[in-house]
Amino acid sequence: MTIAHLNGEFGPLDGLRIAPLDRGFLFGDGVYEVIPVYAGNPFRLAPHLARLERSLASTRIAVTQSRSDWETLLRTLVEANGGGDQFLYLQVTRGIAPRVHAFPTGVEPSVFAMCQRPSPGAGGHCVKAITAADNRWGRCDIKTICLLPNVLLRQQAVESDAVEAILLRDGVVTEGAASNVFVASGGALRTPPEGPALLSGITRGVAIELARELDIEVTETAISEAELRAADEIWVSSSSLEISAVTRLDEEPVGAGGPGPVWTRMSAAFAELKRRHRAL
Ligand code: PDD
Repeated sequence: MTIAHLNGEFGPLDGLRIAPLDRGFLFGDGVYEVIPVYAGNPFRLAPHLARLERSLASTRIAVTQSRSDWETLLRTLVEANGGGDQFLYLQVTRGIAPRVHAFPTGVEPSVFAMCQRPSPGAGGHCVKAITAADNRWGRCDIKTICLLPNVLLRQQAVESDAVEAILLRDGVVTEGAASNVFVASGGALRTPPEGPALLSGITRGVAIELARELDIEVTETAISEAELRAADEIWVSSSSLEISAVTRLDEEPVGAGGPGPVWTRMSAAFAELKRRHRAL
């Protein structure tokens, strides 16, 4: 039985009920985080919570919870769900109010959190991807629950027998439908720079950090469509995909069509990082 949290109460997920006038339900007026948990221990919790705070500030959702309140809530939930490997999902919406677009006054934000078990052997694989036009809004740096464009783009990938859609806007790569993108060419790694066109992924940050430790040259710079298609290696990174190698793009092999040498090193370093995290 999955135990979840809604507005201060813990209980079975199936038994929780949200109000139809919740602005998350009506407008997608909310933000969220997905945090991997390895051996009962949330991974990179501080940067996830820092990003949550940035999303809340950008959407002007005012909460009273401190960083340590969030941490207590999430750790309690992980324990209530038996520890081990899980994903924490945390969502904050603007709250419950009559349906008017502009912000309501005197309303408390709604907080929902749950745990999900990862599908067996979920992350760190070789995957297929497609390219698609990035038709989302201009604030993709906010981790909003308004995910309809991402849902449609990911579905397009799935219907093409692929795992991810790599998005292109004005001739350059932005990110994946639910991941960040890296390319390796001539042994050097590149990823698009942070900014409003993409979400600053926590896994992206880990990959950059590990690349520096491994002495792999890494730059945050624009990647053109031509550079993407000519890359030796393409990776997608996220809390759920971890760092996965894209071995086919739009049905064409990427590089030699298998996992590349840079990814193989990165993947081993990521596995070691997780191993150390599990031992904490
Ligand atoms: N999504 N870009 C987008 C649009 C995303 O939705 C995600 C993650 C990322 C990678 O961020 P991180 O490395 O912090 O997981 C980038 C999560 C996993 C989701 O919506 O389920």
